Amino acid sequence: MQKKYKLLFVCLGNICRSPAAEGIMRHLTEQAGLSDRFEIDSAGTYGGHAGDLPDPRMRAAAAARGYRLTHRSRRITDDDFERFDRIIVMDDTNYERVHRLAPDRESIQKIYRMTEFCRTSKADHVPDPYYEGREGFEIVLNLLEDACQGLLDELTTTVPKHSL
Ligand code: 4NP
Repeated sequence: MQKKYKLLFVCLGNICRSPAAEGIMRHLTEQAGLSDRFEIDSAGTYGGHAGDLPDPRMRAAAAARGYRLTHRSRRITDDDFERFDRIIVMDDTNYERVHRLAPDRESIQKIYRMTEFCRTSKADHVPDPYYEGREGFEIVLNLLEDACQGLLDELTTTVPKHSL
C-alpha cells in the first residue's frame, strides 16, 4: 500500500484553529479525490482541553460552511515529530513551543507556519479566536480556507506523485 502524506495542524488548545484546519483540509482532499493519500490530524501545545470536541462556536461557524468537526483535542507528543511529514502551526507562540519540543534538526525542518500557504491573505499568523466574538471565528475560517487550498496546491505540484 502507498505511504500516506501526513499533516499535523497545531494550535494552543486544539479546540478552535487546528481542528478547523484539519476539517477543511480533509474536505479539500476528499473533493480532490485524494483523501486516501493523506493522513490529517491536529494537536495542541496545551493539554487542558484533552478529550474535548472543538469549541461549540467553532463547530457552528464551520458547520455553516459545510465542515463537520469531530476531532477530540489532544496534546502534541514526541512521536508526532517522527510520524508526521509536516507540522503546521498557527502563530509565533505555537512555533516557539513546537520548536522547543522538537527532538532534532530533522523535526525542526518539518515545522511550517499556516499563513505561509495563504494565496490571497497577507496575514502572518492565524489569530486566536478564543476570547473573540463570532467575527473572530469567521476571520480564522477565511484564513484557513485560503491556506489549506494553497497547501493542497503546493503538495499536489511539488511532492513527487509516488509519495502523495
Ligand atoms: P485554539 O484556541 O488554540 O485555536 O484551540 C484556544 C483554545 C483554548 C484556549 C486558548 C486558545 N484556552 O486558553 O483554553
